[in-house]
Amino acid sequence: MSEAAARFLAEEIKRKPDIVLGLPTGATPLGMYRELVTAHREGGLSFSSVRIFNLDEYYPISPRHPQSYNRYMWDNFFGRVDIAKENVHIPSGEVPARDIIKYCESYEKDIFACGGLDITILGIGRDGHIGFNEPGSSLSSKTRLKTLTQETISDNGRCFASLSEVPKFAITMGISTILSSRVIMLLASGRNKAEALAKAIEGPVTCEVPASSLQLHKEVVIIADEEAANALKRKKYHKFVEKMWLKDVWPGMLYK
Ligand code: GLP
Repeated sequence: MSEAAARFLAEEIKRKPDIVLGLPTGATPLGMYRELVTAHREGGLSFSSVRIFNLDEYYPISPRHPQSYNRYMWDNFFGRVDIAKENVHIPSGEVPARDIIKYCESYEKDIFACGGLDITILGIGRDGHIGFNEPGSSLSSKTRLKTLTQETISDNGRCFASLSEVPKFAITMGISTILSSRVIMLLASGRNKAEALAKAIEGPVTCEVPASSLQLHKEVVIIADEEAANALKRKKYHKFVEKMWLKDVWPGMLYK
């Protein structure tokens, strides 16, 4: 999964060196970031003109906090490649509460000023959330403050010293911000994502499963491992689609 995702991105970066990427955090994309770092160190892939907008950040949180998404991105990716600091945008977890609405509007404006998102990579929460768009998020939402669900707080709590330390809010791109991206790539791995992935791909479009909103988009690539794909009713057909695309449409694109 990670290798396929990194290969896809590397090709797109070579094609458009100043590409605008929407990037996720979590355990799922870690392998993809590792592969991209290797492509930089061993294959000379340059990120010097790539522009980044991260999907989300906890609120409130300091960028120096070991569990902040800011720290995650610099430790796992940005700090290991030649990315330019001024090209990195991560929602701030330190905006004064009274300024949040204005700040979120400015995040949207910054994306627009860069010409919009070219490719946005997503993970998926067990409850089907994308970014921090929890179930019930408006399909037309933009960047804003979201209150996290108990499920997300306890899932993400493994990384904090105690549950009480997990921030209860996040600033996240909205569903419509994500859908404005020209291409979306969703990564899913492991059996605890199987149900959410099946609902997202094969269920009805509903704000109860935010990832199901991707069905409204015209160019989504989903890369899942076997376990995450296990609850798909049409798994056989999806595999056939993959085989045919890699043979006739994208030869050599995802796998060596
Ligand atoms: C968090 C992030 C999401 C991520 C999700 C799943 O809630 N905000 O962007 O997709 O966790 O994380 P993991 O990949 O660790 O399962």
